[in-house]
Amino acid sequence: MKRRQGRTRGPTPEPWLQTLRLDLREFVPGDVEDIVRLDGDPRVMKYIGTGRTHTREESIASFPRALRYPSLYANLGVWRASRRDSGAFVGWFSLKYAGAACDIEIGYRLLPDAWGQGFATEGAAALRDYGFDDVGLERIIGITHPGNRASQRVLAKIGMADEGWGHYYGHRVRLFAIESGVRDDFRPGRVEGAGDRVAKRRS
Ligand SMILES: CC(C)(COP(=O)(O)OP(=O)(O)OC[C@H]1O[C@@H](n2cnc3c(N)ncnc32)[C@H](O)[C@@H]1OP(=O)(O)O)[C@@H](O)C(=O)NCCC(=O)NCCS
Repeated sequence: MKRRQGRTRGPTPEPWLQTLRLDLREFVPGDVEDIVRLDGDPRVMKYIGTGRTHTREESIASFPRALRYPSLYANLGVWRASRRDSGAFVGWFSLKYAGAACDIEIGYRLLPDAWGQGFATEGAAALRDYGFDDVGLERIIGITHPGNRASQRVLAKIGMADEGWGHYYGHRVRLFAIESGVRDDFRPGRVEGAGDRVAKRRS
C-alpha cells in the first residue's frame, strides 16, 4: 500500500484508509466539534487518563496536536473514523508513539452509539496491518486501563498478547503487544469478527 501523499484535497480530505465498514481520514480544523462531543462524554472517558471528561475549551485547546501529528511523525497519526454506509462520525483511531516512550501504540476512542458492533476491532486490525506492512514496524503495542475489559478484548482479538503490567503516560497500565513475525503466524480468521474485515487502503 502506498500512503496517500499530501495532507488534504479541499476542506474534507479523501478517506486515507477504508475497512469494510469504516472510512478513516485525517482530521481538519472543522472536525473540532467531533472531539468536543467525544471527550465530553463520561462513558467514553471513564478509562482515559484520570477518567475526567474534557471541557469544551480543553478539547478545542488540545485538538491542534492531532492536526499536527502527521507532519511531525511521518506515517503515524490520528485518523477520524466514520461509517461508510451513513457517513456518521464514529470516533478515531491512532498509530503513534506511546507518550514519551519509543513504542508505537494503536489507540481508539469511539462514541457509545458505535460500541458493540466490532468497529474498534475492525479499525485496529487495519492499523495493525498498515503498521507492519506499510510502515515496516516490528512491534506494536496497546495500552489500557486495568479495568477496561472491552479494550483489552479488542487488543486480544487483533492478535496482541497480554504482557502484564506496564508504565505509560504516568500510569500503571495493562500492556498488550504483537510482533510482526507473530502477526505473520497469526490467522485473524481464528478470532471471531476479525478475519472477515480486510482493510482496503487507497493510494
Ligand atoms: C473500548 C472500545 C474502543 C471498544 O469498542 P467496540 O467497537 O465496542 O469494540 P468491539 O465491538 O470491536 O469489541 C469489543 C469486545 O469487548 C467485549 N466487551 C465489551 N465490554 C466488555 C466487558 N465489560 N468485559 C469484557 N468484554 C467486554 C465485547 O463483547 C467484544 O468482544 P467479542 O467480540 O468477543 O464479543 C469502546 O468501548 C470505546 O471507545 N470506549 C471508550 C474509549 C476507550 O476506552 N478507548 C480505549 C482506551 S485504551
